[in-house]
Amino acid sequence: MTMTSPPSLFRFAARAAALKPSAIREILKTTGAPDIISFAGGLPAPELFPVEDLSRAAQETLAEDGPAALQYGITEGYWPLRQWVCRHLAQTVGLNASPEQVLVTSGSQQGLDLVAKTLIDPGDAVLVENPAYLGALQAFQSYQARIIGVPGDDQGMRVDELAGILAGLPRPPKLLYLIPNFQNPSGTSLTAARRARIAELAAAHGVPVLEDDPYGRLRYSGTDLPALSAQPGAPSGAYLGTSSKILAPGLRVAWLVAPDREFYDRLVTAKQAVDLHTSAFTQRVVCRYFLQPGALGSHIDRLRATYARRRLAMLQALERHLPEGCEWTRPEGGLFLWVRLAPSLDAGGLLKTAAARKVAFVPGEPFWIGAPARNTLRLNFSNASEERIEEGVRRLGEAIRGSFQ
Ligand SMILES: Cc1ncc(COP(=O)(O)O)c(C=O)c1O
Repeated sequence: MTMTSPPSLFRFAARAAALKPSAIREILKTTGAPDIISFAGGLPAPELFPVEDLSRAAQETLAEDGPAALQYGITEGYWPLRQWVCRHLAQTVGLNASPEQVLVTSGSQQGLDLVAKTLIDPGDAVLVENPAYLGALQAFQSYQARIIGVPGDDQGMRVDELAGILAGLPRPPKLLYLIPNFQNPSGTSLTAARRARIAELAAAHGVPVLEDDPYGRLRYSGTDLPALSAQPGAPSGAYLGTSSKILAPGLRVAWLVAPDREFYDRLVTAKQAVDLHTSAFTQRVVCRYFLQPGALGSHIDRLRATYARRRLAMLQALERHLPEGCEWTRPEGGLFLWVRLAPSLDAGGLLKTAAARKVAFVPGEPFWIGAPARNTLRLNFSNASEERIEEGVRRLGEAIRGSFQ
């Protein structure tokens, strides 16, 4: 018996029709089997989640905060958490914010959506790195932005290209979106000089900068740099941080700093329409964890030590197993590196051969704005052991060699 579905009653908004499902989430559906070595997702190592500490924080929250932890809260977020965020940002990225400028969001992905919702009318220009983070592209596309990719190199967005694009636009873009540290997908970081120059250019052209920094604390070599928003003379914009990669992504607790009062108030109103507020209970649990002396610091040290080993294992395995003609970035932190295959190869086709050998990655194509470099792909190194990284890259090398035959 065949079942045919009746024609849909729903007439979709142009906004929804413009949206494409995330290529990564689609790949993850087929590569989640335990026998597949997956370098596809951006998943932190689950064995490092501080389950016991979070369990204690959750119990204490219920025992000590009682019903307040279970009641509706204010949209802006839990005040002690917003205070902690300010201290944390001052210590780590040189950003001086006050708690009134901090909005707690349900993941930084929600922050991206709220900023887009607040600023973008259909056809408005948004400048992004090229290649760019897919989740941000989805958020901007859902408000029908005109997305313009600014070319980069191994030090992130190129300033000369940015200056050229800004000079050529009839009106300043609504937003310049950047991941200055260990970018997703390329793994590159903006140098100090580029941060200063980009802040200067954005100020000169009156463009707010949306700085997305989920990976900044996960540095394995080199030295930390101040945020782009902390550069002298940087224009007022927004800074996004999250607990996802330094604690656990399932918590969905992140923060958006927006010093401009009107912008902040509009973001709050936009969030009210989405979820009223981020889970009051989870915010308190996360805050309690963060306030435990030394807890976050030693946890991040553990993450760094493990991820640094995995990053090295992947770099060494790539040297050993990838054929001539392949190049890759050597990120100083974060979760990803970016591979460029010989120009004749298509990473989308390679994924099928690789999946048959039980190894997965994300082809670069969906990350590109405009003409994609189909010979690129993203590899995640945080979620597999060193042994599985070695074995997975060996299989990847075989699959690439097979593509030449
Ligand atoms: C650059 C970037 N921004 C934002 C996010 C979303 O993170 P969150 O879990 O805080 O929503 C991610 C997740 O991978 C990311 O890579």
